[in-house]
Parts: sequence; structure tokens; C-alpha cells
Amino acid sequence: MRKILCIGAGYVGGPTMAVIAKHCPQYEVRVVDMNADRIAAWNSDQLPIYEPGLKDVIDIARGRNLFFLTDETIAEQIDWADIIFVSVNTPTKAFGLGAGRAADLQFWEKTARQILQHATSPKIIIEKSTLPVRTAEAMSHILNTNSIGVQFDVLSNPEFLAEGSAIRDLEEPDRVLIGGHNTPSGQRAIETIVELYANWVPREKIITTNLWSSELSKLVANAFLAQRISSINAISALCEKTEADVEEVAFAIGTDKRIGPHFLRASVGFGGSCFKKDILNLVYICEQQGLPEVAEYWQQVLKMNEYQGARFVANMVHSMFNSLSGKRIALFGAAFKANTSDTRESPALVVCRELLEERADVILCDPHALENARQDLDEQAEKVNFVADPYQAAKGAHAIAILTEWAYFANLDYHQIYNSMAHPAFIFDGRNILDHQALFKLGFNVYPIGKAPLQHFNHGRT
Ligand code: UDX
Ligand code: UDX
Repeated sequence: MRKILCIGAGYVGGPTMAVIAKHCPQYEVRVVDMNADRIAAWNSDQLPIYEPGLKDVIDIARGRNLFFLTDETIAEQIDWADIIFVSVNTPTKAFGLGAGRAADLQFWEKTARQILQHATSPKIIIEKSTLPVRTAEAMSHILNTNSIGVQFDVLSNPEFLAEGSAIRDLEEPDRVLIGGHNTPSGQRAIETIVELYANWVPREKIITTNLWSSELSKLVANAFLAQRISSINAISALCEKTEADVEEVAFAIGTDKRIGPHFLRASVGFGGSCFKKDILNLVYICEQQGLPEVAEYWQQVLKMNEYQGARFVANMVHSMFNSLSGKRIALFGAAFKANTSDTRESPALVVCRELLEERADVILCDPHALENARQDLDEQAEKVNFVADPYQAAKGAHAIAILTEWAYFANLDYHQIYNSMAHPAFIFDGRNILDHQALFKLGFNVYPIGKAPLQHFNHGRT
């Protein structure tokens, strides 16, 4: 039986190992994490992350060939495993050289050293965490400077799952990418991992490359995805000025096969733990490699995202007679996207913070993400009202802002909501999920993204 260990039971490690265990009953999969509360949650009915379909997969595999363990026994687990996935977090460095941009690799390096300390037999070490290109080289150096004569093969196998659809993305990936060295043992290691995925992924979807291509492809995939959103968001600003409709433009250009229809939804901005971090990292690497023009090009994707959030708030202020002070504003959505409880880098929290600066009275409403939002907002949380029920949240409000594309926000009874609000009532649809004409007919002043606003009065806007 093959023995797999995963270090890090987060949004990536947990679901990925659950799907591997489900499809490979002949392998034993153990997942360790230094966060004991997280492990307790993985072992309970209240899983630590909200992800559609995850519970079903866990129910099949947990206790059979999938085990979640605290890292007290990490020494024993490392020595036990043949294959070690490392899925610890790699946040943006907050201090020293490259602060605010470079990836902080302290957890990765600590993990590599733990492996070196406790391994007595050969291992395949797999980078699951997104890492700067050529990190594997540094890891190989650390691991292979051992005096015990143990062979370590370091592979890169980046994860492309998106939150909210993690299980579907893992079950039916567009591709699996495995990068390794072009040496006999590197190629053997690649083949071992190809065989693992081939238990459920068609072989033609398993791509093998050299290590550096694999590491870089992950950063580039996220940079391209984020770039598409920034591109359409840039156009949304122009649409609002010209009465073009950004959804019509996106549809029209998306029918060109070379452009394609996906990831062209204009929004209040992209969030999530990956896009910003990975682009900052790409920018930093380009600068380090003496490519300032390339760095600046990608930096612009982030600038456009910040602009979109700031523009959204400025639009609220201007539309609501240049003052939000003391006005009750209901924010529908805290998660960075629908179908997740994750609030990392959520544009909803960016808007929330800026509205607090404007001294608005903010009510935050979300079906799954309020607890994470409370933690992320930190000391500002005490100034925010957290209300799970959107009808309660909107009661007496001067405005509603839709910040997460939860389908259920589109299906509320807006007639009832309108009647319970202060008038004139404003609605800012930061995700374009509502029926704007219908809301306008109900009496709302409606401000979509990338479309002309629908107002019941002439605002004198230019
Ligand atoms: C993380 C990275 O952020 C991302 O770049 C990478 O692609 C995959 O891993 P995610 O799973 O979303 O993504 O992170 P997170 O939910 O924070 O999970 C990381 C886990 O590792 C945490 O549960 C943390 O407690 C654990 N960890 C961290 C360890 O067990 N040991 C450590 O030394 C550090
Ligand atoms: C992303 C990548 O999609 C995934 O492949 C990678 O492994 C991790 O990073 P994730 O951050 O979980 O996944 O979610 P994603 O669906 O990519 O959405 C990111 C952000 O972009 C969200 O805030 C989302 O609302 C926003 N978005 C997405 C838009 O604003 N418009 C779009 O058209 C698509």
C-alpha cells in the first residue's frame, strides 16, 4: 500500500487529500496540521471549510483510508510516508526584504527541515503550495544536503481548484500538472504521481513538465485569470460613461473562440487568497530578474482591482448626496465569492472598511461567511452589525450593496425589502446578479456595474 502524507489541512490540502483518498482506496492518506482546532473540525461533522460536496467525499473516505491528525506525531508520519504533499500556507511576506510582495516561505522551509530531520527512507516531496519559481531548487538543496544518504525527489504539482467548486474541480480537472527533474529518479517520481492521479483523471489530461515550468505555470494561470477580470472591470468603467452595457460587451467578445466566454463577469473586484498574492509574487520575481517593464505590466492588474473597489465606494458616496455619515447600509455578502465561507482579501471587506471610514452604519449579511468576516475585520468588527437574515439587515437601510454573487440574494422578495427601507432607497449591485429594471420599477435607484444607473431623479451627474 502506498503511503501519502499531506502537511497542511487548509482549503487546498483538505479537499485534495479527500478526493485522492476517495478514488484510491489502495492508498492510505494521512493529513496533519499544526492547528489542532482545524484537525478536530476535520474529524467532526462541522468541517472547517464550507465547500459543496466536500462532506460526501469525507464521509466515504474518512476512517477508511483518510485520517486527520495533529502534528504532534509529525516525526512518525514523515518517516511512515513514501509521498509527502506540502500544502502549508505561503502568505505575502510582511517584513524585511520583499515585504508586501515576496512570498513568505518560512513555513515551507520549516517543513522541509522537519522532513529532513525525521526521514530515514527515500521520499517524493510534492509542492502543493503555490511557490515562487525555483523554490523547488532551494528545497532540493536543503533536503539533499543530508548526511544520511536518503534520496528526496522534489516535484511541483500545483493545485488549480477554485473555492466553491473545489470538489468538482478536483473530480474533473481541466488538467493535472506535474513538474519534475529530467533525471532517472525525477522521472520515476513523476511516473509515481501520474499513476496516482490516473486512478480517476484521464491520462491525456495529466501534463508533465520540468520543475520550473510547473511552478511558473501556476503563478501565470492565476495572473491571466485575474488579468481578465481587471480587463473587463476597466471596460465596465467606460461602459458606465458611455451607456454601453458591459454584459453585452462581454457576451459579444466572448463568442470569439480566441477570447472565450469565461471569467468576463465585471464585478466590484476580485478577492481570495491567491490572485493578489500570486501576482505580487510574480511582480517581485520579475523585478528580481531585472525585468521592471514586465513587473509593471502585471502590477497594473492589481492597481485596476483596487481602482474598481474604490470607484464602487465613490459611486455610492456621490449617488447618495455626497454623504454616508450615519446612514444605514446593508452589505449583502462578505465572502470573496459565492459558495464559500472564505473572506480572505474579500472585496466585500474592502468596501466595508471604506464605508466605516465614511462613518456609515454598516450591516454585514452573508449566509456562511460572517464568522470569518468578524475575524478578518479584527478591531473594526465592533463597529459592524453582523446580521444573517437579509430582510433584517435591510430594514431601515438607506442602501443595499451586493458584494458577493450568492444566488440567493437574487431571489429575495425585493418588494418587501423596499417597503422596509428608508426612502429614497438605493441599491448598488457590485455583482450584476439582480433584475435591475424590476428593482427600478419597485422604486429603487439602481446602480449596476458597467451599465447606466437607473435613477428616479436627475442627479446632475456628469
Ligand atoms: C495554501 C497556500 O496559501 C496556497 O498558496 C497554496 O496554493 C496552498 O496552500 P490554503 O490551503 O488556502 O492555501 O491555506 P490555508 O487554508 O491557510 O491552509 C494552510 C494550513 O497549513 C493551515 O491549516 C495551517 O495551520 C497549516 N500549517 C501551516 C501547518 O500545518 N504547518 C505549518 O508549518 C504551517
Ligand atoms: C483561483 C483560481 O480560479 C484557481 O484556479 C486557483 O487554484 C486559485 O485561485 P479562487 O480564488 O478560489 O480560485 O476563485 P475564483 O473563482 O478564481 O474567483 C476569484 C475572484 O474573482 C472572486 O472574488 C470572484 O468573485 C472574482 N471573479 C471571478 C470576478 O470578479 N469575475 C469573474 O468573471 C470571475
